[in-house]
Amino acid sequence: MTEETGGSAGTAIRVLLAAAAHPGKFGRPLVSFGCVSSTNDAALELAAQGAPEGTAVVADQQQRGRGRMGREWVSPLGGGLWCSLVLRPALPLRELGPLALVGAVAARAAIGRTAHVTCKVKWPNDLLVGGRKAGGILTEASGGSLLCPPDFVVMGIGINVNLGIADLPPELRDRATSLSIAAGSPVPVAGLGAALLAEVERAYGQFTETGFAALREEWIAGSETIGREVTVTGASILRGWAETIDMQGRLVLRLPDGRAEHIAAGDVSLAHAGSGSGPFAAGR
Ligand code: BTN
Repeated sequence: MTEETGGSAGTAIRVLLAAAAHPGKFGRPLVSFGCVSSTNDAALELAAQGAPEGTAVVADQQQRGRGRMGREWVSPLGGGLWCSLVLRPALPLRELGPLALVGAVAARAAIGRTAHVTCKVKWPNDLLVGGRKAGGILTEASGGSLLCPPDFVVMGIGINVNLGIADLPPELRDRATSLSIAAGSPVPVAGLGAALLAEVERAYGQFTETGFAALREEWIAGSETIGREVTVTGASILRGWAETIDMQGRLVLRLPDGRAEHIAAGDVSLAHAGSGSGPFAAGR
């Protein structure tokens, strides 16, 4: 592996140097760790101390990386881009539902620009490559209420960049992947990191200034979920047709009886394309 693409350490420093060479507010400052419990924890702490919007935290390794619903996020040394950003949106919590989807749109664009693999988004926050999970977004807000803006939000983005299959726990190997596995060669993490900061700045700026409409279109265009028969596991288990997402970032699920459910949180599993087994197999 070359210095640019791999080595077991120094991911965070390489991202720091690449980001410094690019204009923009995101990644200023950029705090880099060799090892940290979770970049989200570090960013939450910095934000509570007054860190400005755009502050980024990157680490080579996370000891307690976390995903949605309190799940562990496997974050081995040098294998990925583990990054968290401090955001200070002036929008009330009820308008911030789409924020993780905004992050996913940005990450998909950054991956497409720099890693030359096709990345799709899967509701609510997954980044898929070749149908397997290669990354995810975790947004965490502090303070605020439905009608009041939060004190701050941290957007955590994890991308499996140069992980080998052996780096993944056995139980994830049939569902997870990395960009380098998909590309067949190492992927330059520094360029990806700098592109990610620029794309989040673009997408977040668009969201806060003009709303979710254009980003919603972008999300749908890059989606692996919409137009598919799915099972959603949340408060209950529902099977239906993933019709679209609404302006709050909720999944609109068309049920077999014709009703539409707008789902704010849950896990989606996709029926296999062409399985032809479900209630919507014909003619849709
Ligand atoms: C998910 O798919 O459940 C979200 C995963 C988010 C993982 C990232 S890695 C950087 C940041 N720090 C964390 O502890 N989690 C997020």
